[in-house]
Amino acid sequence: MSKLLSCSKKMGNRKGLLLITLFLNFFGFSSPKLDVSQFPSSFLFGTATSSYQIEGAYLEDNKSLSNWDVFTHLQGKIEDGSNGDIACDHYHMYKEDIELMHSLGVNAYRFSISWSRVLPRGRFGGINPSGIQFYNKLINELLMRGIQPFVTLSHYDVPQELEDQYGAWLNAEIQEDFGYFAEVCFEAYGDRVKYWATFNEPNEVAKFGYEWGMYPPALHSQPYVAAHNIIISHAVALHIYRTKYQDKQRGLIGIVLAMAWYEPLKETAEDYSSAQSIIDFDIGWFLDPLIYGDYPNEMRRRLGPKLPKFSAKDKEKLQHGLDFIGINHYTSLYVRSCGISHCIAVEKDGIPIGKKTPMPYYYVVPEGMEKIVTYISKTYNNTPIFITENGLSQKSDDSSSVEELLNDTDRIEYLDSYLTFLTRAIRKGADVRGYFVWSLIDNFEWIHGYTMRFGLYHVDYKTKKRTPKLSAKWFKDFLNAPRLQGREDEKSKLI
Ligand code: NOJ
Repeated sequence: MSKLLSCSKKMGNRKGLLLITLFLNFFGFSSPKLDVSQFPSSFLFGTATSSYQIEGAYLEDNKSLSNWDVFTHLQGKIEDGSNGDIACDHYHMYKEDIELMHSLGVNAYRFSISWSRVLPRGRFGGINPSGIQFYNKLINELLMRGIQPFVTLSHYDVPQELEDQYGAWLNAEIQEDFGYFAEVCFEAYGDRVKYWATFNEPNEVAKFGYEWGMYPPALHSQPYVAAHNIIISHAVALHIYRTKYQDKQRGLIGIVLAMAWYEPLKETAEDYSSAQSIIDFDIGWFLDPLIYGDYPNEMRRRLGPKLPKFSAKDKEKLQHGLDFIGINHYTSLYVRSCGISHCIAVEKDGIPIGKKTPMPYYYVVPEGMEKIVTYISKTYNNTPIFITENGLSQKSDDSSSVEELLNDTDRIEYLDSYLTFLTRAIRKGADVRGYFVWSLIDNFEWIHGYTMRFGLYHVDYKTKKRTPKLSAKWFKDFLNAPRLQGREDEKSKLI
């Protein structure tokens, strides 16, 4: 380093500084300013949404009720007593929303298909032509604008019929229903859709729906059975795609998990092993079976007979694995060992892990992005990765000033810093192929109703008017900046 300093004096200040910066960047000491040319040229940059959170039209054109339609109509489940009956009215405003994306300059859009719109009664009734048509129109409009559809099959929602008939994820019957739904979608849209995610955050569905009782069906039992059926349902859909569609449709299929980064609270062996254990329980729970054929040993050891076993037949289906891993990453948390369990903490010696955000347990910790991506890439054989969600919430109620909401400089800082740490993971060798901001527009934030706003565009829920926030302009400028260096893109080609 001292050699470098004396060399810089000889070169004059500006050149010297440049040399030092290059040196520091090369060895990973600091990150160069974020710019789009740090990503491969075929990298997908997009925004993400999900059907229940934006579509509305909850009973229009023969759509039936989903589990979320029913749940939000129960007293006291949603913070502001709201629901997704109308939401952002995207069902009627999809063209305008695509126009917003086009004006940003994104090349991909992640959305989900409402299962109860396409198959109102699951496999117990017919296919709904209006449901099929809605997503056909959406997909065609996207493609006309040069935007790749990135489709999630189940983003938390299930037709209520399946809940009523047999208890949805608690019953192995759902594997057949999910396989049928997936096939209807591959058949209808697979000629144009090249990116499929079977599930969004099944780890949250199982925990929140079947352990903590916060999401439908609001139970406090059997998260491991629900997860088991989701994992096998994924495998069933994979089997169908691989054997009947992938050759001719040439798309990729994967799964999306919620992934916080867990940092050991102290540099002790106990806290390190607690952090690893929680990662096994949160992420390995789904990825180990799909990639290595079985649950992590840590789960077997702790749960014993509570953890279901994969039959020989299931294992056969699991062999189809996945083509990519979707990472929804927002925050990091501390973990410490406490007795036989592990405990989450958000502070160390009275100092929070990062800046607090309005969402409970969400803190701004940009380094977590590099850590989680590197961990996933190393643990799962450098499987291709998409960052399927990343973004920042704003608290809002009737008294919030629209001007303040539009002036979201903290979101700009958040996105800039997380993307910067993502480039570090890419430089270290992670095969990251895309990044989606959550979300395009403010929308229905599950149990928080409309009190949390994640959008690049503000939505006035009375008039449904969309207005760009400062972050929309920032994202647009970032995406449209001239590429400083052309990068050969050998990675992101489809199979
Ligand atoms: C995860 C979920 O996939 C999405 O639906 C939700 O709105 C965001 N994260 C923010 O909480």
